[in-house]
Amino acid sequence: MKRVDFEIAKKIIKNPSKIAIAVTKDENEKKINLITLEWFMRTSINPPMFAISVGHRRYSYSCLQKFRYFNLCFPSVEMKQTALIAGTTSGRNVNKLDLISESFFSGKLAKLPVFENAVANFECEIFSQIRSGDHTIFIGKVKYSWIGENQNLLLGTEL
Ligand SMILES: Cc1cc2nc3c(=O)[nH]c(=O)nc-3n(C[C@H](O)[C@H](O)[C@H](O)COP(=O)(O)O)c2cc1C
Repeated sequence: MKRVDFEIAKKIIKNPSKIAIAVTKDENEKKINLITLEWFMRTSINPPMFAISVGHRRYSYSCLQKFRYFNLCFPSVEMKQTALIAGTTSGRNVNKLDLISESFFSGKLAKLPVFENAVANFECEIFSQIRSGDHTIFIGKVKYSWIGENQNLLLGTEL
């Protein structure tokens, strides 16, 4: 073992990776937004919950602070371009839905789009949140779960 800077150690723990796309909404602008995330996890079996960690400078952060829902989408490999756009552009400057070509429907909670081509989608309502340095961890209770026909999960390594 050798002691290294965190910047070096973090690259070692990154791969193999897994990413998700959180879908949320700016209620004022009536704009749906997507953000690619690698910092997410399950946090409860019953009721099922997911936590997502979102940076304070992200447009998604301001959306989540007001609109208390997110859909957590596990993208298929076919959604690579969508994950790239969601992770490299900001909803502050663009409407990401205009930049992607994905089919979606409104789900059962009907708050946010559910992506047809995803491996799985979880419609979540925010239950609580915790500040963690320059990010906030939003914990969402899963209301409805969906699985797609395409089960070929996109890992973050291809981005
Ligand atoms: C592979 C990948 C993983 C990312 N993981 C996170 C994450 O866990 N949390 C976060 O706040 N941003 C993460 N980002 C950065 C955001 O996706 C990126 O800043 C995005 O443009 C923010 O969009 P927004 O301003 O519309 O919210 C990640 C980006 C990529 C490409």
